[in-house]
Amino acid sequence: MKILITGANGLLGQHLVNHLLLTNHQIIATGKGPTRLPFTESDLYSYLTLDISNKASIEKTMQQIGDIDVVVHAAASTQVDDCENNKEAAYTNNVIGTSNLLEATKGKIKQFVYISTDFVFDGVNGFYKEDDVLNPVNWYGQTKKTAEEKVRETNLPWTIIRTCLVYGNTLSGTRANIITWVKDNLENKRPIKVVSDQVRTPTYVEDLANGIILAIQKNAKGIYHISGNETLTPYDMAMKTVSFFNLDATLITKVDASTFSQPGKRPQKTGFSIEKAQRDLGYQPISFEEGIKKMFAKVQ
Ligand SMILES: NC(=O)c1ccc[n+]([C@@H]2O[C@H](COP(=O)([O-])OP(=O)(O)OC[C@H]3O[C@@H](n4cnc5c(N)ncnc54)[C@H](OP(=O)(O)O)[C@@H]3O)[C@@H](O)[C@H]2O)c1
Repeated sequence: MKILITGANGLLGQHLVNHLLLTNHQIIATGKGPTRLPFTESDLYSYLTLDISNKASIEKTMQQIGDIDVVVHAAASTQVDDCENNKEAAYTNNVIGTSNLLEATKGKIKQFVYISTDFVFDGVNGFYKEDDVLNPVNWYGQTKKTAEEKVRETNLPWTIIRTCLVYGNTLSGTRANIITWVKDNLENKRPIKVVSDQVRTPTYVEDLANGIILAIQKNAKGIYHISGNETLTPYDMAMKTVSFFNLDATLITKVDASTFSQPGKRPQKTGFSIEKAQRDLGYQPISFEEGIKKMFAKVQ
């Protein structure tokens, strides 16, 4: 199969390309600027610059590539506060960019896989299932919800994969996340305040890449929730990091999210039921502790 990935320079995109290269598919990685992927071009791998907000650029690239079987659309404006502060830019990337891709691939592909987020939910109930009601509380979530609607309205065979708090390293180095933030501060004896009234099911990036590949291999259509299987607060994640690295827990103060003021409101309780993905795809994530181990096995 010929598989095109958008946002291939991003955290997920990099791991997806890395895992797909172990299969026998032809991979076309695309990103907004020059490649940040550590792979050399071959018969089965190429990198192309593709700005999804530029319709003409997409059409030109699609002509260049010819027939494609699957598109995995991972490119997005992903920083919640940036989206809140630059609404137009976020809409252009997340909604218009998705529409551009849908239009350019209409009638030409076997599966359009859109990567979405737990932030399409309002965070009141948590532990969301695929058919729960969407009600985003910030602009990032709103743009992802609108993009989901664009995907669902098309006649293309579509798959929406929603994920939640993705952590891991990029292929070329580290990437800041709650684990590196806790480790870095506590190792340097800096006290930190950690939120204990938000809930997520954090997702190790390689699990997410595997889940997407399972959905492609099984040609699974519809919506799937792919995340970790543990319901944790940021405080729980911090304490797991403390015990993994044997850090000083007394430097941590438990606080409510209301302690911090951020431009984009965060949904309080999200996290997913992943039963459908486990049943239909055979998806099985690792634990948060195992995720920390894998992250640091790679950089030390
Ligand atoms: N990370 C999470 O916790 C999380 C949680 C839920 C859902 N998701 C979803 O998962 C997907 C992947 O996220 P990620 O964590 O890999 O985010 P990421 O590291 O920020 O990657 C997103 C990529 O999209 C690219 N991009 C932005 N605008 C573009 C444009 N106009 N044309 C082409 N590429 C563009 C960015 O390019 P540059 O690098 O050049 O800026 C970046 O490489 C996103 O759809 C996100 O909404 C992520």
